[in-house]
Amino acid sequence: MEEVIKIEGGHKLNGTVRIGGSKNATVALIPASILANGPVTICGVPSISDVDSLSVLLRDLGVLVDVRSSDTIVIDPTKMENKPLVHDAVNKLRASYYFMGALLGKYGYVEIRMPGGCYLGPRPIDLHLKGFEALGATVKYDHGSYILEAKELIGNKIFLDIASVGATINIMMAAVHAKGRTTIENAAKEPEIIDVATLLNKMGAQIRGAGTNVITIDGVEELSGCFHEIIPDRIEAATYIVLAAAAAQKLVVENIIPHHLESLLSKLTEIGVDMEVDVDRVTIKGSLENLRSTDIKTLPYPGFATDIQQPLTALLTQANGQSIVTETIYTERFKHCYELSKMGANIHVMTPSSFVNGPTPLSGAEVEATDLRCGACLVIAGLIADGVTTIRNIYHIERGYEHIIEKLTAIGAKIWREKL
Ligand code: EPU
Repeated sequence: MEEVIKIEGGHKLNGTVRIGGSKNATVALIPASILANGPVTICGVPSISDVDSLSVLLRDLGVLVDVRSSDTIVIDPTKMENKPLVHDAVNKLRASYYFMGALLGKYGYVEIRMPGGCYLGPRPIDLHLKGFEALGATVKYDHGSYILEAKELIGNKIFLDIASVGATINIMMAAVHAKGRTTIENAAKEPEIIDVATLLNKMGAQIRGAGTNVITIDGVEELSGCFHEIIPDRIEAATYIVLAAAAAQKLVVENIIPHHLESLLSKLTEIGVDMEVDVDRVTIKGSLENLRSTDIKTLPYPGFATDIQQPLTALLTQANGQSIVTETIYTERFKHCYELSKMGANIHVMTPSSFVNGPTPLSGAEVEATDLRCGACLVIAGLIADGVTTIRNIYHIERGYEHIIEKLTAIGAKIWREKL
């Protein structure tokens, strides 16, 4: 029986929402932990199904995973064995590819099924593989699995054609034990990359420059266990901020790093959202009156994040005039627009842009979360729509938003799960 999320729209939200640890950092920090030769304690771990899938893979490798509290896990790789990663869990998320860099770095050998994740158009991993090859690995693809092998990894200069988040992190992990110095040029600069480098450095790695476009990694012999607290999730934060602008009377979104959200906060100011930003929180007084349309172009950090354009589109359906959203990272990331149209939105998609004409009243309908951030977009739309919205395929939402029903219910939303 399929479980769906139902939302009765039109209830004004009030109160405080606390943001959890960053999903996209967590899904890299967990595989990175296996590079240690002792237990790694990570706190701020979000309660999402991607963490469950990674824990399944860790246990498959003989890694002890001890859940200490609701947000703290201890990962002990002392007794791990390097087995082929062929479990179904590999296909449940894209980030299972971080086991490539981590296992290659630790053992010089990896066998792993093709990773899964949200369909956002083609998502090649050629840059990851080129990076591994530059360090001395051979890459084979055989019967649906990648086999990476290196007798010895040797530091090299690697220029990324695209500043890829995944390739930057994966190469960093593969290079921590490589002989000599690895330099990643045109590295991605996302905050999650700094978080992974911070963890690896606490373990004893020598990584400099994370957060800039040149990262150097000097290989070391040993990495040890450590304690690490994950940075707050800037995409979850962005989702609740946009949601507040659309549906709240007054909402405080706390446990955020406002600096990570600059591109969104300045856009929201531009379209007329009333916000007050403090060191670790933002207070939003939502109102759909007099919102102005705007144009957005997604870019690598610190530009406007592709992960936020989908939730923001729900708000733009309520702005006066035409907004143009141009997607430069994943040119097919527009499935949410077709779902919003089922609710009454007036949106035309002509890739790589969507043209959002507002304001249009939204009305509850049956819609499908085609991917994680599409799901977030539909939750926002459901909160402002007239009547009840039914969201299907909610496993996408559960991959990245912890306790979303509970968090929204606590601030006055009428949202619940139902079995169809
Ligand atoms: N790309 C290549 N070759 C590669 C790698 C990437 O052509 O080898 C291209 C991609 O197709 C894309 C661009 O480079 O057009 C950027 O991709 P990137 O590698 O940076 O993305 P990713 O690491 O696969 C992460 C996040 C995504 C987020 C993107 C962009 C994780 C687990 N995922 O993906 O998050 O959209 O960076 O910021 O960190 C999400 O959270 O909903 C999500 C999809």
